[in-house]
Amino acid sequence: MHPRAPRDGDLEPIEKASRDEIAALQLKRLQWSLRHAYDNVAHYRRKFDEAGVHPDDLKELSDLAKFPFTTKQDLRETYPFGMFAVPQERVVRIHASSGTTGKPTVVGYTRNDIDTWADLMARSIRAAGGRPGDKVHVAYGYGLFTGGLGAHYGAERLGCTVIPMSGGFTERQVQLMVDFKPDIIMVTPSYMLAIADEFERQGHSPRDCSLKIGIFGAEPWTNQMRREIEERMGIDAVDIYGLSEVMGPGVANECIESKDGPVIWEDHFYPEIIDPVTGEVLPDGELGELVFTSLSKEALPVIRYRTRDLTRLLAPTSRSFRRMDKITGRSDDMLIIRGVNLFPTQVEELILKQPKLAPHYVLEVSRPDNLDELDVLVEMKPEFAGAPEAEQREAAQALQHHIKSYIGVTARVRVVGTGGIERSIGKAKRVIDKRPK
Ligand code: DLL
Repeated sequence: MHPRAPRDGDLEPIEKASRDEIAALQLKRLQWSLRHAYDNVAHYRRKFDEAGVHPDDLKELSDLAKFPFTTKQDLRETYPFGMFAVPQERVVRIHASSGTTGKPTVVGYTRNDIDTWADLMARSIRAAGGRPGDKVHVAYGYGLFTGGLGAHYGAERLGCTVIPMSGGFTERQVQLMVDFKPDIIMVTPSYMLAIADEFERQGHSPRDCSLKIGIFGAEPWTNQMRREIEERMGIDAVDIYGLSEVMGPGVANECIESKDGPVIWEDHFYPEIIDPVTGEVLPDGELGELVFTSLSKEALPVIRYRTRDLTRLLAPTSRSFRRMDKITGRSDDMLIIRGVNLFPTQVEELILKQPKLAPHYVLEVSRPDNLDELDVLVEMKPEFAGAPEAEQREAAQALQHHIKSYIGVTARVRVVGTGGIERSIGKAKRVIDKRPK
């Protein structure tokens, strides 16, 4: 057992409950949630009526498949507060995520919602190996993004000392980490890499830092990236998943003792995997789009919300709840290059297999002659950055070869100078699409 794994007595009873107990709780809460949405949100009532379903039709969990999906489009149509199920004076907090196009997605929370969120984030941090008394450096952005404040409230709820750094000011992040000696960092994995580079730039070995655990999420990252970060920082790297519409961070979190995919806090969120094309519910273990129904949310109940995230549901291991596999990517991030589907995470895995390449990368897609072309821009590791051109070309060719043989796509790999790939301070942008719209 991992020395930082919570002891049995530290877990909430529901984390160890039988599947029957969990299903009974889910059914009761699901019936409440559907009724709450139907009674209080005109948009849901209209959609349910149009689909010919009523909350009373849900007699067992599988009946949920009869209900219509909710998408980002529903939130757009009702912008900003049309999906709220409580009067505005009961909403104590607003967050928003800036989509790639158009208006942001606005979400709201009642006092109870904030309380549940803090509880679930505390549960998440504990699953990641955090304990009361730990110092937690929060480098997720504070503000309308849910990352910073979500982590903050959860760490406080667990009884930790919070250092609310937010994102950016990388030099200062490192300086304060050296001085304050945090045990845990909560940050996007891509920004962790930028912070690690800054440690080195300031003459510190990242492995000698005080950190023991990193809780990484808000963007896709691979198990290869986990190993890279764990090696480089000398920490345990644990995956946290969530999205604003469903709550924020802490919808699911990995356990430090198993690191086998985020455990979904199924007492508050009911997961389904669907075929993204037909909408049909798929059995556990099959890859598809993750869909969530909130079971306790007051201000913004979500019924069968389509996340666009692709993954599979896995059987319980360290807790009684089911897990999700690491996210392959978002359906809107999937590139189709000359008929072959490709996710940035697939390229990430291959980059990390190249000993001389750094995990800073971006995929550039263009269409010069009516045919899509893929360029992979990547940096050499700093210690190889000054290597002769032939050596750089060799590394590029090796990656190019791997992309062709493992993914089936012809790509052009271009090695750029150190710092040539823009560093993110939050979610990394992995795709630059230069194709004409
Ligand atoms: O990113 C919430 C969050 C903050 C999660 C901090 C974890 C840590 P949004 O900005 O609404 O909310 O973006 C949600 O980010 O649908 C996924 O596509 C992606 N995402 C979040 N966590 C992970 C993860 C926050 N662990 C969107 N792995 C989601 C892969 C993730 N993708």
